Amino acid sequence: MRIHATGLHNIAKRRLSTGVRRRARAGLALMLGLVLSARMIPSANAQTPPQAPTLNVLHWWTSASERAAADRLVQQLAAQGVGWHDDAIPGGGGGAAIKVLTSRVLAGEAPDVAQVIGRTLTDWADLGLVLPLDDVAQRGRWRQVMFPVVLQTVSRGGRIMAAPLGVHRINTLLYNRHVWTRLNLAPPQSWHDMEVAAKAMRAQRITPLAWSDEPWQIATVFEAVLLAEGGPALYAELASTQGWSSWQDARVVAALQRLRWLRDLDDEATTEEPWTTPARKLQTGQAGMFIMGDWARGELMAWGSQPGTDFGCVPVPQTAGMHLYSIDTLAMLVGRFPKRAEQERLAEVIASPATQMTYNQAKGSVPVRMDIDPAALDECARDSWQTLARPGSALLPSITHRMAAVESTREALGEVLHRFVKTRSVTPQQAQAQLLAIVRGAAQ
Ligand code: GAL
Repeated sequence: MRIHATGLHNIAKRRLSTGVRRRARAGLALMLGLVLSARMIPSANAQTPPQAPTLNVLHWWTSASERAAADRLVQQLAAQGVGWHDDAIPGGGGGAAIKVLTSRVLAGEAPDVAQVIGRTLTDWADLGLVLPLDDVAQRGRWRQVMFPVVLQTVSRGGRIMAAPLGVHRINTLLYNRHVWTRLNLAPPQSWHDMEVAAKAMRAQRITPLAWSDEPWQIATVFEAVLLAEGGPALYAELASTQGWSSWQDARVVAALQRLRWLRDLDDEATTEEPWTTPARKLQTGQAGMFIMGDWARGELMAWGSQPGTDFGCVPVPQTAGMHLYSIDTLAMLVGRFPKRAEQERLAEVIASPATQMTYNQAKGSVPVRMDIDPAALDECARDSWQTLARPGSALLPSITHRMAAVESTREALGEVLHRFVKTRSVTPQQAQAQLLAIVRGAAQ
């Protein structure tokens, strides 16, 4: 818009250099140009002031709910006079985005801000690539108002290294309420419930479980199953760098068997789709259940479905009261052109109570703050938030979503699980040995 206004202004300038009559007309054009630009600038002002500093933000939020949540951040930031230039790299789970981001950082072309989370964040903090946010955190009393698990995730060497957006719950089982009512089923709380429901659905030609064979999606389901079959103490060991020997436990085999059982609840032979495809199958009632991080819940809502009415959500069987978490964070990268003031402004905006509520409602995650009113959350979100808030709850870091593993490890684990699910001749014991080899290698 403003380029257009400048164009008019230039036309007016050219005309001014000719005769008097033309000069009069040119004056008019000039005035028109000025009026137009005067009218246009305030409208740009509504977004961000003229010459507003802008932050380049690299992330992987491209689905409807992810986009809506990011747009809420953009609006809150614009109200503070800072622009947001979007660098969205598609690909659920962020595998592609992290590759692009890493090569840009290596080439000295780091964006100002990026979705750097969990282990990637702490590794990058160690390399000095990330701007510490201690001043912002102190002004905003982050240490007093945020969940300890959130502070621990964004801290390195006692310093705060990123702005936390929200907490996702990975051990989430979504089910289509209309299917449930039609078939008169009880909410699925055990594997047995799922089996009974699956039988009833098959008789109606409904796919019991929506599924995708993308490695990161298989790994997302697997870690929830690992928690279910192994329990929180074993899972915590499996997720710790030095706990590699616990991958020899027989419960890992049980989890692999359960994973195959779940895969068989989807009748399609091959399905390597983005996560929004199984989510859509659940929404339309083509499938009855879906195990996925609760960003899928955000997506259903972005498509107009209501929690409690159109879909229900429960913890994956045998994980009630446990929270397998993935915490989304934006890190402020140290680039060639310092934008510290704007980066700190963004961090401040992210942590504010208003942004926390509006962003997380759209995203499907829950606020990182302890001082919000849980009554304002829907049923699924409330259970997630209250599990985080309850003293003594088992809170476990997601391996697949980088809370407990470096990028190369999570990718390698995903490949093994993918092969295991796709190739029936691979036994659970063989897959276990391969998983063990990866984590043992990563521990050394
Ligand atoms: C996760 C991320 C979520 C969500 C999901 C699907 O890794 O934490 O915010 O976007 O991937 O892409």
